[in-house]
Amino acid sequence: MNGIDILGTGRYLPEKVVTNGDFTSIVDTCDEWIGTRTGMKKRRFADNSEPVWYMGAMAGEDALKAAGIRASDVDMILVTTVTPDFYTPSTACQIQLKLGAKNAFAFDISVACSGVAYAFDMARRYLACDDVKTVLVISTERLSQITNYKDRSTCILFGDGAAASVLQASGKRFSSYLKSDLDGSHLLFAARPVREIPFVDNTAPVREIFPEQEKSNGCIVMGGNDVYKFATRAMPEAVVKACEKLNITPGELDLIIPHQANYRIIETAMKKLLLPIEKCHVNIRDYGNTSSASMAIGLDECVREGLIKRGDMVCVVGFGAGLTYGACVFEY
Ligand code: ACO
Repeated sequence: MNGIDILGTGRYLPEKVVTNGDFTSIVDTCDEWIGTRTGMKKRRFADNSEPVWYMGAMAGEDALKAAGIRASDVDMILVTTVTPDFYTPSTACQIQLKLGAKNAFAFDISVACSGVAYAFDMARRYLACDDVKTVLVISTERLSQITNYKDRSTCILFGDGAAASVLQASGKRFSSYLKSDLDGSHLLFAARPVREIPFVDNTAPVREIFPEQEKSNGCIVMGGNDVYKFATRAMPEAVVKACEKLNITPGELDLIIPHQANYRIIETAMKKLLLPIEKCHVNIRDYGNTSSASMAIGLDECVREGLIKRGDMVCVVGFGAGLTYGACVFEY
């Protein structure tokens, strides 16, 4: 099947910087613990003037500018987010409105932090049909809205931000490997709070799909150690499988852009792949874990800083709630 051409990328990061030290005033933690255990130093937090749709639209505008494409030339807008501002319409439709992309159709996909890998794969499949010529893929997240600030093991991990890519079809090499692991699905979730509503028995116990679901109350609940183990298995597997489909080895990749959840996860995954950490783009120190935006921000940094050049073989690889995981390998 055809590959993709990345015409341009862009990003939006909120101005507000939250340091490790800032968390010491709300939970029992310290800069040293957070830095050593995660590789994070700071992250950005959006305020109410920067909703998820807005960050996504700003990143999209930036990517369109870089690509030299007008919003009216976009055929499809594909958004990945776990933190939409609205139940409906989709964040993609809100961004379409803000950008004035009047000729596009728009929808969201929900695959948590693996978003970019899934979105690129889906975009590539649409682009293989003749009626979609230009796709705007946007990942936009405001994790600060679904974080439990009383839970020191999770609240220090997350940040906000958005990034985007403009894609068109090309004959370049492309492969993907996408999976979801049902055994680990209970390890990471954020459940919508239950409302009291008229006419029904509001005392009926909530039928839970995950144990202790009521703990969530709209915030992330995570079994950090088990997610860690899963991630260090899933990331190398996805890279290897995606490479196999192109008959290349991970060693032939020029750069890997992983989901930025924990520096130690990235380090272990690279060791398992027998690759030096330098083959990886890491920005976790500055932005923390921005869920699906993390690979997208990484890609934009690599493009703008010249860390990848045309013809390079690049791999995006991620994992997240679901538990989803996946990788795309593509010729830039
Ligand atoms: N500050 C100080 N101490 C802490 C903190 C903190 N912020 N958080 C936990 N601790 C303590 C624990 O209470 C525990 O103390 P104890 O030994 O007295 O019980 C000790 O530190 C060790 O805790 P662990 O959970 O074993 O620490 P670990 O080294 O596993 O690090 C972490 C925890 C960072 C969450 C790690 O497990 C991890 O990164 N897991 C994967 C998370 C992940 O990848 N999430 C991504 C998916 S979600 C998404 O991307 C949106």
